[in-house]
Amino acid sequence: MLSSIGCALLMCASVVTAQTLPVTDLVGTWSSKSNSTLTGPTFYDPVNEKMFEPDHTGISYSFTSDGFFEEAYYRAIANPQNPACPKGIMQWQHGSFTKQANGSLVLEPIAVDGRQLYSDPCSYKTSVYTRYNESELFERYEVLTDPYHNIPRLNLYKFDGSPMMPLYLVFSPPQMLPTQTLNPTTASTSAGAKATAKFKRSTEDFALPMNHNVLNRRREPIQADRWWWLGVFLTGSGAVLYFCF
Ligand SMILES: *[C@@H]1O[C@H](CO)[C@@H](O)[C@H](O)[C@H]1NC(C)=O
Ligand SMILES: *[C@@H]1O[C@H](CO)[C@@H](O)[C@H](O)[C@H]1NC(C)=O
Ligand SMILES: *[C@@H]1O[C@H](CO)[C@@H](O)[C@H](O)[C@H]1NC(C)=O
Repeated sequence: MLSSIGCALLMCASVVTAQTLPVTDLVGTWSSKSNSTLTGPTFYDPVNEKMFEPDHTGISYSFTSDGFFEEAYYRAIANPQNPACPKGIMQWQHGSFTKQANGSLVLEPIAVDGRQLYSDPCSYKTSVYTRYNESELFERYEVLTDPYHNIPRLNLYKFDGSPMMPLYLVFSPPQMLPTQTLNPTTASTSAGAKATAKFKRSTEDFALPMNHNVLNRRREPIQADRWWWLGVFLTGSGAVLYFCF
């Protein structure tokens, strides 16, 4: 028992030393040009399990000086068969980030907290509300003063080196929800299953994929989460024991 605790502490210690802090130039809330998708309580309400559809599609990232991030995505997916029926995706997650020695950024979300609302208004009567958990790797980033708008601008480069759309500084200090775990694994979030938000048409459509491809993965429905997470928990503790004995 003691050796397993020691082992767990050792694992934690090695995770902590991987961080390169502070990363002061990233601190703040950044948003794409439409400036209507923003992290924080205007996008996701974890207490009532609600997501609020922004006026326009866009993305937003927030970073703190002590290594936490939050992100909000609202994307419309064009529907060539029926242009009047675009699909929409809202995604939210938060967690911790590290700047690696090679300059890349690694974002590790708190897996139980992420949420996705997928709406295909012409195929489903209600939207599909699920957990969302995707680690992200940015090959590099740069912060500069945008020569046209004269405000700080963040350029993030995807894992493969291709640039994301530029993000502009909106708030500093950042506008974020609390950075600790919001939805402990024991809590039931059945209210989420009733989400019925419909997406409006948007002016700024994005083509998939972005930094990660979200559509080819199966997402667990939120109402099934208690059993699924119990399984993750058991598998996780089994893995720790396996490594320590
Ligand atoms: C972006 O939106 C925020 C919140 O609505 C506002 O405070 C800020 O002034 C806006 N920034 C720009 C550049 O329009
Ligand atoms: C930089 O480091 C990260 C994390 O260690 C790694 O995943 C990534 O492949 C590295 N990038 C390059 C260009 O070597
Ligand atoms: C969350 O996603 C990452 C990869 O994006 C994966 O390694 C991890 O196992 C996932 N966690 C859970 C609990 O699903």
